[in-house]
Amino acid sequence: MSEIRNVAIIGAGTMGHSLAQVFAQGGCNVWLNDVKEEILARARKLIASNLDTLIELGVVEKSQKEPILKRIHTTAKLEEAGKSADLVIEAIIEDQAAKKEMFSRLDKICPPGAILASNTSYMDIFKFVETKRPDKVLIAHWFAPPHIVPLVEIVKGPQTSQATVDVVKALMIKVGKKPIVLTKFLPGFIANRLQSALQNEVMHLLDNGYASPEDIDTATKASFALRMPILGLVKRMDFTGLDLSQKIKSNMTYKVPPQRPRSETLDKLVSQGKLGVKTGSGYYEYSGRSTEEIMKERDLKLIRLREFLKEMGEL
Ligand SMILES: NC(=O)c1ccc[n+]([C@@H]2O[C@H](COP(=O)([O-])OP(=O)(O)OC[C@H]3O[C@@H](n4cnc5c(N)ncnc54)[C@H](O)[C@@H]3O)[C@@H](O)[C@H]2O)c1
Repeated sequence: MSEIRNVAIIGAGTMGHSLAQVFAQGGCNVWLNDVKEEILARARKLIASNLDTLIELGVVEKSQKEPILKRIHTTAKLEEAGKSADLVIEAIIEDQAAKKEMFSRLDKICPPGAILASNTSYMDIFKFVETKRPDKVLIAHWFAPPHIVPLVEIVKGPQTSQATVDVVKALMIKVGKKPIVLTKFLPGFIANRLQSALQNEVMHLLDNGYASPEDIDTATKASFALRMPILGLVKRMDFTGLDLSQKIKSNMTYKVPPQRPRSETLDKLVSQGKLGVKTGSGYYEYSGRSTEEIMKERDLKLIRLREFLKEMGEL
């Protein structure tokens, strides 16, 4: 398989609807599948509204909206979605039995040359998925919302062929994404491992009352987060000087807080029903504004920043 034209997205939830949009924007024919027509209708509405935001920012031309939407076919029948697919991305619930069954059904339905990818967040699917095409199975892990965030972590299984990885990687680049390849499965892949390490430290600071959520975010945004889009985490060390990096590493005054399965400050907020933006409060207060309004503001800022970084050649 050298070129992918037809893409099937299985699951039209938080990730699936936006994945369908990515491939339709990139010129592919997309079949979006879910278990209920209502979910598919909601997905179509979300995609149309996402496109309106991109049009508002000049990232997508207005004249492209209808052609993009026309390239997305929705169906509640898995057979219809998979029968002519060159690539399938499974984005159903994070449940081992559900994913195992889905891959076995897709293996029967899809053309023998089709590549089957999972958007799993943390599962080593290579341990339990059974197909007659293990060389064409991989993980393609995206970040929410995929139509805005560029990274795709491609993970090779023990039997995935290099040709499969190459085809998927080339497609991701074609549709405007930033793929990276992990040669074998590692829990959390790369980006979530780094986020988890930081989250562990954030909860340590909060649980022990060292600083407020606002001050922790200011310390982040006004320092290393500002440099990060330009330098990343590795190149940053070259700028610091590797001799100093070596000294910092060896002085051992910084101890990584022990990993704990709970956080007192987090548990308190959750027990009060403060679940974040969706309930109007979490670590911060959001009352008086709708979830949609808050999400849209975030999206507009993220897209502007992404386009600026692209212009500077950093993305
Ligand atoms: N939400 C995120 O930020 C995020 C990020 C990266 C990866 N993921 C992963 O992506 C996958 C999907 O996550 P999500 O957040 O979009 O979940 P979601 O619950 O929003 O959507 C899942 C959709 O799959 C559908 N579904 C369930 N079983 C199905 C079946 N048998 N056939 C067809 N559709 C079916 C559900 O009806 C639902 O609409 C999960 O594996 C998750 O771990 C999520």
